Amino acid sequence: MSRAGGRFVVLAVTGSIAVYKMVELSRRLVQAGATVQVVMTKSAAEFVTPLTFQALTHRPVEIEMFAMQDERAAGHVAMGRQADVVVVAPATAHVLARLAHGFSDDLVATTVLATSAPVIVAPAMETHMWQNAATQANVSALRARGVLVIDPETGPLASGDIGPGRLASLERIEAAIDEALGGSQVLAGRLVVVTAGPTLEAIDPVRFVSNRSSGKMGYAIAAAARDAGAEVILITGPTALVPPAGVRTFPVESADDMKDAVVAQLPRADAVIMAAAVADYRPVERVTTKLKKKDLGNEMTVRMTENPDLLKAIVAARRPGTVVVGFKAETGDATSEAGRMLRDKQLDLVVANDVVSPGSGFGSDDDQVAFVSADGIETLPLLKKSEVARRLVAKLAERLAR
Ligand code: CTP
Repeated sequence: MSRAGGRFVVLAVTGSIAVYKMVELSRRLVQAGATVQVVMTKSAAEFVTPLTFQALTHRPVEIEMFAMQDERAAGHVAMGRQADVVVVAPATAHVLARLAHGFSDDLVATTVLATSAPVIVAPAMETHMWQNAATQANVSALRARGVLVIDPETGPLASGDIGPGRLASLERIEAAIDEALGGSQVLAGRLVVVTAGPTLEAIDPVRFVSNRSSGKMGYAIAAAARDAGAEVILITGPTALVPPAGVRTFPVESADDMKDAVVAQLPRADAVIMAAAVADYRPVERVTTKLKKKDLGNEMTVRMTENPDLLKAIVAARRPGTVVVGFKAETGDATSEAGRMLRDKQLDLVVANDVVSPGSGFGSDDDQVAFVSADGIETLPLLKKSEVARRLVAKLAERLAR
């Protein structure tokens, strides 16, 4: 458990006979140098006393949501915020259902809801409960949101039956914790340039042409690359978002400005991720004084001309080895369009995005995408943009390691 050292691990323990195994897990995590904060449901505390965990972790165990010492500082969400990883183990069928539906009625559920750290869930229950369609639907819902669910193992159960339902081995849980914590440095020493948001093409000093991009995807990628240890430069069109901490952010307006800003970074860039929705056209003329209605009459015509293709410019000017990623937003067959774009523009990867599928695309917090590369097409389920970003970063790291 090498990567747990110095990290803040929240261990959320819920009411199953397997609770006793978490005593050993918390001991191992502490030995590895982690700060382990145990949170228990009331029923978990019926199996093993909080005192046992407290003695091993040297920290008070939290149970009741509003009895926490530091509720003044919004203690019920503080733990989720502080966590580097949240591990829910053992997770009962009841807890899976509550997490899948976003409950916030006790500290375990609230911690999972309030965290932006990776969440690992290790279920343990009687075989029929595990196999029940309701439980499986809850597991799928959690997985689709990026939760890592470690399937239980098959063996003798407390009920006397033999079947799937036994809590995964501590070794598997430890490996998952390691992966969640350590996925984190795969881009160490790399410079990743990310573009985000729309571009804004001025007609006159007050009017412009733009598009519906919110910038959420690009910002999420910048944050994920930072979390993976990269130096990150975010070149962003106008958005309403707060730039991620620890990321150098360059605001730009037009496609031309964005091109200059990206090209300036190419001598050092290891990867360029073009998540921005660059306007394809700009007004031919940009007048410097406001156009007046009395001069325009009852119709206004804006002649537009093509903007430079940033991806083409980047591919032409990149140094060998710089990975270039494009995005293909489509209302139709996004993956075949993405394949065409991959070849035509000589990209390393295209993220194909169906902007009209329900819950996905512009402005949404979720996205349904496919990664299209020379390796083939990898279709992902509907995921949070932060999770899409994390997976894209993993893909990028794999590519750079070749
Ligand atoms: N892009 C670019 N330069 C432009 C326009 C877009 O580099 N002038 C990049 C975007 O950042 C994004 C991808 O190209 O990564 C989006 O491609 P898209 O505009 O969908 O491709 P087109 O081939 O222009 O598709 P369409 O003709 O349907 O607009």
